[in-house]
Amino acid sequence: MKGMKTIQTKSGLLAVLRDYSTADRESVVELFRKAFSGPPYFENNPSEVIRDLFRTYEMEPDLFFHVVTPIQNGEGETVIGLSIAYRLDLSKFRCLEVPFEEMGISINSHNIAYGAELAVEPGERWRNQGIATIMMAERIRLVREAGFDYLIGRTRFDSFTNPIYARFGFIRIEGLADPDFPERRYFVKDLNSA
Ligand SMILES: CC(C)(COP(=O)(O)OP(=O)(O)OC[C@H]1O[C@@H](n2cnc3c(N)ncnc32)[C@H](O)[C@@H]1OP(=O)(O)O)[C@@H](O)C(=O)NCCC(=O)NCCS
Repeated sequence: MKGMKTIQTKSGLLAVLRDYSTADRESVVELFRKAFSGPPYFENNPSEVIRDLFRTYEMEPDLFFHVVTPIQNGEGETVIGLSIAYRLDLSKFRCLEVPFEEMGISINSHNIAYGAELAVEPGERWRNQGIATIMMAERIRLVREAGFDYLIGRTRFDSFTNPIYARFGFIRIEGLADPDFPERRYFVKDLNSA
């Protein structure tokens, strides 16, 4: 993404969608901590752990990392939305081979991106206002433009990401499950079709 876009929430608040910069790191860590400390995750990750996670993301060679910041007096550059996708390292995802083969896709001959994180500031002001939907539309546009064939996503069965995946035509990857996290669902979108 080059530059920034002004976006509007359903209730009419204005915000900016732009590329992440390392200057956003602390704000992003705090957003992530808050977003996943509530339902349905109830995680209690210390900030240091989240900071390390984001430092790892920053090192991804093909990274699509966007943030949303409000256009309001006094809120400055506080990040209220984040979206991360990157090129999937297929050597670490051999578990995809069989389910993809069953869908008629050879994972080795395609560029596959992975949507790693999507989060919006908890609370009525920013949640359920269409921000994650806007970020997902931008993610899809950018990975498609970058030449990726498929975009994979993962979420819990009870997450509000499910309606977003449905809206954008993701399909569930049947037969892919993590025994340690049975509540997780995997989805894929074919970027070469509408
Ligand atoms: C998932 C998440 C990013 C969605 O962000 P959001 O900006 O609120 O999402 P949107 O406003 O684009 O809503 C998408 C859809 O989810 C549903 N939804 C979202 N919030 C909802 C709520 N509070 N109540 C009912 N439905 C809701 C709606 O179906 C909505 O579609 P609609 O606009 O057609 O009604 C946000 O809830 C979040 O950060 N959750 C915690 C972290 C998380 O679960 N991340 C995803 C992990 S993969």
